Amino acid sequence: MMITSAVIFDLDGVLTDTAEFHFIAWQAIANKLDITFDREDNEKLKGVDRENSLKYILAKGNLVVSTTEFELLLKEKNDQYLTLIDEVNPSHLFDGVLNCFTVLKKSNVKIGLASASKNASLVITKLGIEHLFDFIGDAASVANSKPAPDIFLSVAHGLKVSPKNCIGVEDAVAGVSAIKSANMFAVGIGDSKVLTQADLVFPSMSEFDFKRVETAFLLSAT
Ligand code: BG6
Ligand code: MG
Repeated sequence: MMITSAVIFDLDGVLTDTAEFHFIAWQAIANKLDITFDREDNEKLKGVDRENSLKYILAKGNLVVSTTEFELLLKEKNDQYLTLIDEVNPSHLFDGVLNCFTVLKKSNVKIGLASASKNASLVITKLGIEHLFDFIGDAASVANSKPAPDIFLSVAHGLKVSPKNCIGVEDAVAGVSAIKSANMFAVGIGDSKVLTQADLVFPSMSEFDFKRVETAFLLSAT
């Protein structure tokens, strides 16, 4: 029996290594403000939108800035991020992604994108995979960002499928929480000790095995 109607993917850190570029750009901002920002901090920011990420960094440094300065810092971070992704091309797709999409298409499973990034369209165009998605969510149009379920629910709606027939794929703690709050089956990409809320975890996309996912999904639904 097939219960999966759609698989909804996060972008940064799932389909390509842009999570590292977000880290580099945030670390540069934190350094400039004399605030320590390490990979442990970054783990908490994965999947978190731009404004809330800056709020986290400022709070960590007990720093209060004016609205104008806040906006300038956001722009500076994004400008650096845009410079870092300038070179992104189809060779930067993680191994296993195209193969996974082929398997899903052969199984008549729809493919959605649920990224918190306002740069998501640009990145997937650079990766050359825009045409493979049945629906691409718009981070700017949802009320609440991850860990709220909004972006995953809006993509399920756009795909015209029920959330209970969707699988979400995420590398971030906040993202996995968003999938679970949307009442979807959550596949984590990364470390199972970090992505504790996920129903199933693969170390990387090259290990993503749709048959295993479907079996675990079916078992969880019975
Ligand atoms: C998420 C990333 O996908 O998008 C976060 O995991 C990032 O690190 C967020 O901050 C927002 O991205 P952007 O491109 O809108 O600043
Ligand atoms: Mg991510």
